[in-house]
Amino acid sequence: MSDIPPVGAQPTVAEKIFTFVDERVGLKLLAAKMLNEAVPGGSRWAYVFGSVLLFIFIMQAITGALLMFYYVPTADHAYDSTQYILHEIDYGWFLLSYHFWGSSAMVVCVFAHMSQVFLWGAYKKPRELIWVVGLALFGLVMAFGFTGYLLPWDQRAYWATTVGVEIVDKVPLLGDFMARFLKGGPIPGQMTLSRFFVIHVMILPAALIALAGLHLFLFRCAGPAGPFRGTPTELKAKTDYFFPRQIWKDIVGMAVVFACISALAFWEPVVLLDEATPDPGDYHPEPEWYFLFIFQHLRLRMFSGEFGQFLASIALPGALGVVLLLLPFFDRNPERNIFKRPLALIGWVMSDRWP
Ligand code: HEM
Repeated sequence: MSDIPPVGAQPTVAEKIFTFVDERVGLKLLAAKMLNEAVPGGSRWAYVFGSVLLFIFIMQAITGALLMFYYVPTADHAYDSTQYILHEIDYGWFLLSYHFWGSSAMVVCVFAHMSQVFLWGAYKKPRELIWVVGLALFGLVMAFGFTGYLLPWDQRAYWATTVGVEIVDKVPLLGDFMARFLKGGPIPGQMTLSRFFVIHVMILPAALIALAGLHLFLFRCAGPAGPFRGTPTELKAKTDYFFPRQIWKDIVGMAVVFACISALAFWEPVVLLDEATPDPGDYHPEPEWYFLFIFQHLRLRMFSGEFGQFLASIALPGALGVVLLLLPFFDRNPERNIFKRPLALIGWVMSDRWP
């Protein structure tokens, strides 16, 4: 469509508003910069996970803000206010259950996104910094899950947090300070809840927004890596732009994820256990599935004793983190084709067996 309206045609109100804003902030230029990003080798379904992660985060922020209208972050009222949301507020059960399943969806998608960029060799030069910031984002996603788990203040929340803080305590040098800071007292109580709440609703969202912005800025500086097969001429010939093909794939990905989270919220709504007490009775602490591997390792005989527990919960996961952090710096081979990187492929296949 031409920018010049036909003779005699009057611009609509919407067009006038658009022109007004465009003249002041350069909307057209901004849209062109955002949407005309070249995607070498064409759009792909494999690239949807980054945008889907942003979408899930926005939905978590919206549902979380709505929950905060009713949730009371005090040891006296956290449990009752969560029950109130579940049983008294219209669709409160859906809101809380969507938020709950949204956190699992974020972990699943962060693993999918990480796997995609790892298998595509997209962490290699010049994208090392995108990978490093991505790992920090991964840490934030896990921290969201850990801090959010305590907020309903039922037995599951209380005991998973108690074990989690004990694990933090084992971290060399800083562990003792971090555990004491998180707990805020001899046993989990009001200070623990307040601190977890502030970290969950203020510190982590601010950090995630800042780091996701940096991640995208670095991504735009380096440009998309594109597929790992094909000569530069072939890739150039197939080049697409972010709009419209990739953006449509991203929107379909978001719609599928939204439908899956909603379906889980309908079929498996959140149900609280008894209110938190310092007496576990016959309750056995159970973390969310994405922390389960640490709990399972702690129960293995080979990790018994003080040192074994340290190995299982801190040293091995920490070593894996350091290897991932340094990966783009010691893997200087420019080959990105996963079928020509047997070590990387074996490592990825075995990754579900790692600590
Ligand atoms: C909240 C978490 C995250 C968000 C919202 C996010 C978002 C994005 C987005 C929107 C892109 C643009 C292209 C695409 O979608 O593939 C991207 C690219 C990328 N991300 Fe992430 N990401 C996250 C976590 C991670 C993690 C955990 C890693 C790896 C440790 C990572 C590494 C990368 C890399 C290497 C690229 C460049 C891919 C390429 O050039 O093809 N990201 N990310």
